[in-house]
This record gives sequence, C-alpha cells and structure tokens, in this order.
Amino acid sequence: MINVGTTLSWIFTILGWMAGIVILVLLVMFVQDLLQTQHAVRRNFPLVGRLRYFLERQGEYFRQYFFANDREELPFNRMTRNWVYRTSKNIGGTIGFGTTNDLREPGSIVFVNAPYPVLEDERQPTPPLVIGPDCAQPFVAERIVNISGMSFGALSEPAVRALSTGAGQAGIWLNTGEGGLTPYHLEGNCPLIFQIGTAKYGVRDEHGRLDERLLAEVGKRVNAFEIKLAQGAKPGHGGVLPGVKVTAQVARIRGIAEGVASISPNRHPEIRSDDDLLDVIARVRDVTGRPVGIKLVLSSEHPIHALCGAILRRGVDSAPDFITVDGGDGGTGAAPQVLADHVGLPLNESLPILVDALLASGLRQRVRVIASGKLVTSAHVGWALCVGADFTVTARGFMFALGCIQSLQCHKDTCPTGVTTHNKRLQKGLVVTDKATRVAHYARWMNEDVDRLAHSCGLAHARQFQRHHARIIQAPGRSLRLDQLFPYPSADRQD
Ligand SMILES: Cc1cc2nc3c(=O)[nH]c(=O)nc-3n(C[C@H](O)[C@H](O)[C@H](O)COP(=O)(O)O)c2cc1C
Repeated sequence: MINVGTTLSWIFTILGWMAGIVILVLLVMFVQDLLQTQHAVRRNFPLVGRLRYFLERQGEYFRQYFFANDREELPFNRMTRNWVYRTSKNIGGTIGFGTTNDLREPGSIVFVNAPYPVLEDERQPTPPLVIGPDCAQPFVAERIVNISGMSFGALSEPAVRALSTGAGQAGIWLNTGEGGLTPYHLEGNCPLIFQIGTAKYGVRDEHGRLDERLLAEVGKRVNAFEIKLAQGAKPGHGGVLPGVKVTAQVARIRGIAEGVASISPNRHPEIRSDDDLLDVIARVRDVTGRPVGIKLVLSSEHPIHALCGAILRRGVDSAPDFITVDGGDGGTGAAPQVLADHVGLPLNESLPILVDALLASGLRQRVRVIASGKLVTSAHVGWALCVGADFTVTARGFMFALGCIQSLQCHKDTCPTGVTTHNKRLQKGLVVTDKATRVAHYARWMNEDVDRLAHSCGLAHARQFQRHHARIIQAPGRSLRLDQLFPYPSADRQD
C-alpha cells in the first residue's frame, strides 16, 4: 500500500533539496561575477549579465530560423541554401505566384531573353571541352559545373566518399584540394583534378619538395593537376588545418604529425616569379603527361598581364592549360579573418580581368578559364559563362548538397552534419549513398538549368553565352549589359 502522506513528504523534501542546490549554485555564480575582473557587464550586473553572453552565442545558431529574412544572411542566404537543398533532393526549382527576388536590387543578374527562344528540337547538348589538347593525355571535361578543391582533412571521410560517388554518377570532376589523394577520392571513379598545394601533400619528398616519383604515380590516377597559388578566402596564406582535425588518418595521408596544426607555407618556396611558375608547370606536365593549371586570386590587372607576357615570350606551349580564378569571398576550412574579409577581389570583378587579359594576349583559346566563388546557383553559373568562363566550380554548393547547414564551424571539428568533422558520432548523420545521390542531383540540375537559361536567350546550349546575354542592375530601374560594363578588348569576342 502506498502511503500518500509519506510520498508527498518525500517529494517535497527532494524538491526542497533541489531548490537549495540551485540557489547555492546561483549564489556561487553571483559571487564569481562580482569578483571577476574580465567582463564589465557581469561585474556590474551579476548573474543577469551572463544572459547577454548566452543569448549572443545562441543567436549565431537561431537567428537564421527566427529573425533573418530569406534573402538576408551571409555568406549564403536561406533562399539560396533552400534552392540547393531542393535541387539536390531533385524536388526542383518550380515556384508559384511570382519571384521574391527584387529585380531592382543593385547587382541582380537579368538574362536577356530572345523574342524567339529555341525549340526543344533545336537544342543541342552542351559539348564537352578538352583541357590541354596538346598534352600526352588531354582531359575531356564533359560538364560545365564541377566540384571545387576541398582537402581530405578539411572534409570528413564520408563527405569525400559521397562527393566522389556523386561526381562519378553525374560525370563531373572532383578537385582533391591540397590534402593529397585518398582511396575515398577514387571510390566513385569520377574524373579527378589533383591539387598541388604549397605543402605538396601527396607529392612531397622528406624536405617538402616535389617528388617526381610520387607525382608520376599520382598522374596515373588523376586527369589533371592544379598548382594552387592562392585561394580566395586567404590569399597569401597557406592552407590551415587546425590540430584538432589532424587525426591519425589525416596525419598518415599528409605525412605529418598527428594532433599538430597542418600549416602550409604561404607560397611555393621554389616559385618566386612567373618564369619559376612556368618552369614548374612544364615539369609537372612532362612528368605526368597530364594537363596542368593554376589556381589564383586577382586583385588587379597587372599580375595576369605580366604572366601572359611571360608566356608569350617563352611560347604559347608554356601556358598553363587552365586558370582557376577564385573570388576573394571564397570559403575555406579555416582562415585568418582579416584575409577572408579584406583581401582579393570578388569574382564579379576578377573574372572579367582574367578573361580580358587572355583575350588581349591571344591566349584565350589556349587557356581554359575556370570560375570559382559563390557560383552555387545556375543563374550565377550563367553569369560566369556570359563573362567568358569555360567551366565553373563550387565548394560550398556541394557542401550544401551534402547537408551542410552553414553553422560556420568547419575549423572546429564540431560540424553538426558530419561534413567537416572527424568525430565518428557526428559523421553518422552523413549517409554516403544518400548524400552521393544528392550530389549527383545537384550537379545535374545545375548543368541542365544553365542550358535552360541559354535556351531562353535563344541559344542552342550554354557554351554560346556572351556578355550581351546578361544585364546587371546598377540602381532601381537602371541596368547595363555585361558588354557595356566590361567591354571586350576588341570589337568582337576574340575566342
Ligand atoms: C571546407 C573547405 C575546404 C577547402 N579546401 C581547399 C583546398 O584544399 N584548396 C583550395 O584551393 N581551396 C579550398 N577551399 C576553397 C574552395 O575550393 C573554393 O575556392 C572557395 O570555397 C570558393 O568557392 P565556393 O564559393 O563555391 O565555396 C576550401 C573550401 C572549403 C569550404
């Protein structure tokens, strides 16, 4: 028989103890706040002052759900993220009632529709493009939109496996980033571009110099090489992988010590000039027989004009087979904030600078242009093609396809979606087969949607875009065509 009186008295005694403990804890915190000297708000408003720090921290996570408008957040607003989520789930880009995109907003892209768009049966498949046609083993790249460099280490094992498998299904390339080549990159049998970062992970000897034997080995497994001079999030700074993310596995693949931050030099030690760069390009091409390109960030015309001049002096054959230009607002696993915030032009200025320099020097046909930097929707890809890019790549677009929720924790090993963490429990959320399908859906959607834009502009496929096919809003009610904003170096497009 339960005695109600005794039970109630027990409950009240327990509650009394609990209240006592809570009051004691609050009292200790109160005294702590009063005595500490670091935080003025806590010292002046003991206990209550703590709320400020708590709410500020929570705001980082919850602002996006309750307060931020659909088109407000950075780096990517909810509208853009949702577009990627929908396309990667293959539930697509159809909307009802009308756009919420304010077409009077400065910077908006408006494509120039043709009075008589192409009919279904007049459309042509976007043709593949050869990178490095004169190499021993040229790379025939099938699709326009591909996966940008993200290293294993910055990304988790299941993330790389899902990217590789999805890329294989969609026929797009995957760039390894600077962390070396792993079995996970090879799993999906997709085309691969191997990135040679300044630390040369995967192709370095014991002194950190290029090891030709390893280079030749890697060359048997990948389609092309990219020498990284800079990336948009941290120009002039080497790759950074915080010690917390240098697991035994990452350490083994990179050939470095476990648990110690992996910091690449801020420049290839042996590349001090354009001529040094062209020497290294020639060396990698000779050893591997594969096309070799570079990745850079541009903030003015001079460096690219100087490089074109050096190429012309040595002969057109010495040119890189492609140049990837990364916008200054690019993403990263970890970067010093001052470099991310203030160094490097965004792509909307640097892409025209690159294309115009190649056109003016007559190298546009020889050197393929890969545009990178916030090109996560088909409209932005269309813009890049209009300016003059041959291909586009995106890193964060494919991270969204993997399930990334932009929690901005890539440098902490605490990514809640398993994309950038080596924590096995958090990686469970990223189911490789499921996310590989999403990567493939997103890649196909981007590539098909950009053709849809082209058809609306009266073109048979997206490779026919030119600058007069897009306008950019300057102020409400006032737009300019891209060829007015960035006139081609000569009257006709010269490619
Ligand atoms: C997690 C992460 C890791 C990255 N790792 C590399 C890298 O190893 N090498 C590189 O050149 N760029 C790296 N990047 C930069 C991307 O390749 C790309 O240039 C940049 O994010 C801009 O493209 P996006 O706006 O489409 O993300 C990384 C970016 C992210 C988000």
